[in-house]
Amino acid sequence: MGVQAGRIPSMGKCLFAILAGGLAGLAGIAAAGARELPGDPVPGRALALEACVECHEIEPGEREGKLPDPPAFQNLADDPAMTVLALRVFLVTPHTNMPGLILTHAEIDDVIAYIHSLKDQ
Ligand code: HEC
Repeated sequence: MGVQAGRIPSMGKCLFAILAGGLAGLAGIAAAGARELPGDPVPGRALALEACVECHEIEPGEREGKLPDPPAFQNLADDPAMTVLALRVFLVTPHTNMPGLILTHAEIDDVIAYIHSLKDQ
């Protein structure tokens, strides 16, 4: 065992990937976090216009809102902590201020794809 592990230099990385995947699984999340975005930003924007614009700035280049106020989607895109995984974790649980907001997984993927499409704007 020890001999084999010594011969595989990328073992550490593999273990990390397995661990990260396991954690994502534990949280009940499809382990898509590290992969390419599964969502489509076009329906994501349409959904945001319907379901999020009431409280959030959703257009590119608009920066407004700080917690506990609704952050602008641009602020979310600018924030390196707002990874796909972090957004997904947030969006599968209801908002503190709006318990009624429940999205399907496909909707969550799309809206995350839209938010991430605002990066670097
Ligand atoms: C009724 C108002 C309202 C609507 C509608 C709304 N939000 Fe929010 N959102 C908030 C508020 C208030 C906060 C900050 C406090 C909190 O985290 O609940 C927030 C925070 C967030 C955050 C940041 C969480 C963090 O940890 O910084 C994300 C991401 C988010 N909303 C996404 C969305 C998306 C996507 C939609 C549409 C599908 C949406 N919100 C619709 C009020 C709203």
